Amino acid sequence: MSVEPGLLKDALKAIAEDIDRSFDLLLPLPGDARDRLVEAMRYAAIGGGKRVRPLLVCATAGLFGVSRDSAVRVGTAIEAIHVYSLIHDDLPCMDDDGLRHGKPTVHLAFDDAAAVLAGDALHDFAFELLSDPVTSGDPFTRIELIRALATASGMNGMCGGQMMDIVAETSSFDLQTVTRLQQLKTGALLGAAVEMGAILGKAPPEGRTHLRGYARDIGLAFQIADDLLDAEGDEAAAGKALRKDERQGKETFLSLLGADRAREQARMLVEQAVQHLASYGPEADLLRELARFIVERNH
Ligand code: IPE
Ligand code: IPE
Ligand code: MG
Ligand code: MG
Ligand code: MG
Repeated sequence: MSVEPGLLKDALKAIAEDIDRSFDLLLPLPGDARDRLVEAMRYAAIGGGKRVRPLLVCATAGLFGVSRDSAVRVGTAIEAIHVYSLIHDDLPCMDDDGLRHGKPTVHLAFDDAAAVLAGDALHDFAFELLSDPVTSGDPFTRIELIRALATASGMNGMCGGQMMDIVAETSSFDLQTVTRLQQLKTGALLGAAVEMGAILGKAPPEGRTHLRGYARDIGLAFQIADDLLDAEGDEAAAGKALRKDERQGKETFLSLLGADRAREQARMLVEQAVQHLASYGPEADLLRELARFIVERNH
């Protein structure tokens, strides 16, 4: 069992409820031949996942007194991108996985076409949500949010990292290249979550520097923890198939450094992340606890 301090435990529970409710309200079945698409979107989006990215949005926005409703809408948008990335990551042409969040992956529960389209439509849904004046009344803020999420999702972010990850199965990468891969594949979206919290809070550019340092460090630590989980974790707790990276010949921090040094590196990154928050008081405690949870989690 991973141990979550009280503040974090409550926050994880609250964000899980808020994000489920948000997807439920915003993705109603149209009642026509598109139902299968929306059912697949809902199947993937509702009731699974730790919701780390939405929690990062809310915890950062909370530093600047942003309303919970706005932060949850932005959190829903980034989670939609994350869920889409997982649906596509699990496809036979990518990781070919059968289990996600303890249930069959979307292409098994539906089919490949529904999985591709559900991912595509969740991607589009994210930007619909961010561009909606209900999310923020300020057009400049909306554009900044859209730009941050688009940049973190595309070739200079998650998609770029996913491509490198696939190339890593057949090439040998050095530590610098694996670091870049992980920053793009996982770090970019986690960084965008923090950035979008700061954008909602209209934090001045200089105020974002420390938050960016925090985000960069937890982003890297997060993927090292995912790779450690793949090698050493419990499948029932993780809710997904493990022991795949080595079999697929993926170059990771683990394959390059070994488990002990990778774990040490992740711990060091978390301490460094927490140091970036030194100018904040107790209002940043949730971000501090979240950083620790990222490496101590068992799922
Ligand atoms: C898993 O992400 C995939 C990576 C980017 C490492 P999460 O561990 O955040 O996935 P869920 O949504 O909580 O299952
Ligand atoms: C996936 O990384 C990262 C994404 C951008 C979806 P992994 O392939 O390691 O994620 P898991 O282990 O399947 O959750
Ligand atoms: Mg993958
Ligand atoms: Mg995968
Ligand atoms: Mg993995």
